[in-house]
Amino acid sequence: MADHPATNPVRPISCERTLSEKKLHFGIIGAGRIGRVHAKTLAFRLPQAQTIAIADLNREAAESLAAHCGIPRVAESGSEIIADPAIEAVLICSPTETHADFIVEAAKAGKHIFCEKPIAHSLDEIDRALAAVKAAGVKLQVGFNRRFDANFARVRQSVASGEIGAPHLMHIVSRDPAPPPLSYIRVSGGIFIDMTIHDFDMARFLIGDEVEEIYTAGGVMVDPEIGKAGDLDTALVLMRFRNGVIATIDNSRKAVYGYDQRVEILGSEGKIETGNCYPNQAVVSSGKTMYRDLPFNFFMERYTESYAAELRSFTQAVLENRQTEVTGIDGRIPVVMAIAARKSYDEHRPVRPEEVEA
Ligand SMILES: NC(=O)c1ccc[n+]([C@@H]2O[C@H](COP(=O)([O-])OP(=O)(O)OC[C@H]3O[C@@H](n4cnc5c(N)ncnc54)[C@H](O)[C@@H]3O)[C@@H](O)[C@H]2O)c1
Repeated sequence: MADHPATNPVRPISCERTLSEKKLHFGIIGAGRIGRVHAKTLAFRLPQAQTIAIADLNREAAESLAAHCGIPRVAESGSEIIADPAIEAVLICSPTETHADFIVEAAKAGKHIFCEKPIAHSLDEIDRALAAVKAAGVKLQVGFNRRFDANFARVRQSVASGEIGAPHLMHIVSRDPAPPPLSYIRVSGGIFIDMTIHDFDMARFLIGDEVEEIYTAGGVMVDPEIGKAGDLDTALVLMRFRNGVIATIDNSRKAVYGYDQRVEILGSEGKIETGNCYPNQAVVSSGKTMYRDLPFNFFMERYTESYAAELRSFTQAVLENRQTEVTGIDGRIPVVMAIAARKSYDEHRPVRPEEVEA
């Protein structure tokens, strides 16, 4: 591992090229579910990006993705990606328990970093990673892609502009079509840190304020094996914000009709809501009923555009030397909320986020 930020300065992006000609050179660590989504975005949708190399513990997965996306090199390890002098930005798509070490290593090597959520399961690990990023002066963006979804961005605009007056109540519904494999559940850090984390980020983003109290009710209703692994598969989180807004997050690991992603905010002058997205808009009417096809089944289809938009935003932030739109602190606060939510469930009482700070 590189150990001296002073001798590994942040790689300057060549000033000789004009902005439109600049390209950011990426290395990807992890060729699993989300690694595949990001590799395809970089290859086919982002002319300002070029992937130089990819690594995965499962070399076959890396090789087949490299072949599909025209990535010229498959590296042996994440460390080899980070050490490659041609790589300016590292995209961390490996499992969560690897994120903090890769962030520290990449920061010390002067690489800009896009890291999937969450940064880590523990606040100590997150703080270690964020300290390395700060010391190296590199850019970090955390993969909270829902901020870049057109529907949620419109809801945020409505709250920020005062279109619906002062927000009073918010309801976030966020249900997966089916639980991930138990092998994933066991290393995920639990439902709050793995799944609700997106909704905690959404809650902060949409209301534009911080939560001061969290109360959780949860259960195991989908699969007893999830309970045996120490996790929950169903939860309702009740939150109060500092500005008085009251909000709920409704999570399930199994909604048989598909990926259920909705938000409603009631304000003093009206309400705004956003519903599910569908592969088509067709509605069939018969003499007895009306029906339509099911919503998009999961995140890869539902959030395709937001994944492309978040990587475009990161690439532009690096090339134009701007702050990233989802910072390290934005990565940390939802983990605090997730730990508080679990504590509330365990202790059957409302928990304030500051109670779980180290
Ligand atoms: N933003 C989102 O919507 C979103 C969606 C899915 C997953 N994620 C996050 O992305 C991360 C990966 O999740 P996934 O669903 O793609 O998991 P996955 O299991 O499908 O893929 C992870 C890949 O990383 C590889 N890997 C493991 N250790 C490695 C190492 N040390 N070096 C290189 N490769 C390694 C594995 O072989 C696997 O191919 C998790 O942190 C998860 O929380 C985010």
